[in-house]
Amino acid sequence: MINKLLGKAVMTLAGRDDFAIPKHDSPLFEGVDWDNLPRHVAVIMDGNGRWANAQGQVRTVGHSAGAKVLKNILKTAIGLNLESLTVYAFSTENWTRPATEVKFLMNLIYGYLKQELQEMHEDNVRIHFIGDIAGLPDYLQEEIRKAEELMKNNTGVKFNVATNYGGQDEMIRAIQKIAVSVQNGEITPADIQKELIEDSLDTCGNPPVDLLIRTGGDHRLSNFLLWQVAYAEFYSAEVPWPEFSPKCFVKAIKEFNNRDRRFGGLNDDKK
Ligand code: IPE
Ligand code: IPE
Ligand code: MG
Repeated sequence: MINKLLGKAVMTLAGRDDFAIPKHDSPLFEGVDWDNLPRHVAVIMDGNGRWANAQGQVRTVGHSAGAKVLKNILKTAIGLNLESLTVYAFSTENWTRPATEVKFLMNLIYGYLKQELQEMHEDNVRIHFIGDIAGLPDYLQEEIRKAEELMKNNTGVKFNVATNYGGQDEMIRAIQKIAVSVQNGEITPADIQKELIEDSLDTCGNPPVDLLIRTGGDHRLSNFLLWQVAYAEFYSAEVPWPEFSPKCFVKAIKEFNNRDRRFGGLNDDKK
């Protein structure tokens, strides 16, 4: 049953062009300032449905095309030596979409994991799913556990896939965990500080987000990483996710290179 449903999603992933991890001196990276890279990049992969509709196709065709793009962006992130890449795959609000689209997306994530597992492992990727994983279908939860277990000792890019993720839901779950510790007398309310909150979030162990990219032309957070983007640089790409190429990704990185981040302070020459 599952395999039958999966057929379509997985097949569309196969037969993609092979894109190797770009080397440091690759023409793709020309002009990148290697001393001023973001440590953590987060991406709202938006615009799949509109992209598909614009070519007279059903929305799900856009999701399949988007999965191929993700693979290339992950390889580019590895080439850039990023510490963390966090991508928004399915939000807590996306359950309100038609059941057929939701099912397709669950199957697509499952198929992607199954198909890419070994290659990601060979690329030293450490995959981790953030969000309320317990709310996902059992077959997907099982594949997630397998993938995380396989890659848990890898030392390369931390690849966080936000699935059934909502920033508010993440905070609720973190606050509940902390409240239990207080109730059990393990900590006091005064112990609730920034570090404890960060350690209680799904992104524990990752640096704060430096660069947040949203494709598809909209300019909103849609409940993504509300705590973690406190000082992120925001980059909006007009292109929909299925057209977001490694070149587009590097363009965003180069723009980040030139951003003036002040963190509420003043530049040296203004002091
Ligand atoms: C993003 O593309 C993927 C998910 C939200 C799962 P959309 O499906 O939101 O595509 P648009 O924004 O409707 O074009
Ligand atoms: C955000 O995109 C969620 C993902 C990319 C997974 P949406 O398409 O769900 O966001 P809205 O509805 O435009 O805010
Ligand atoms: Mg959208």
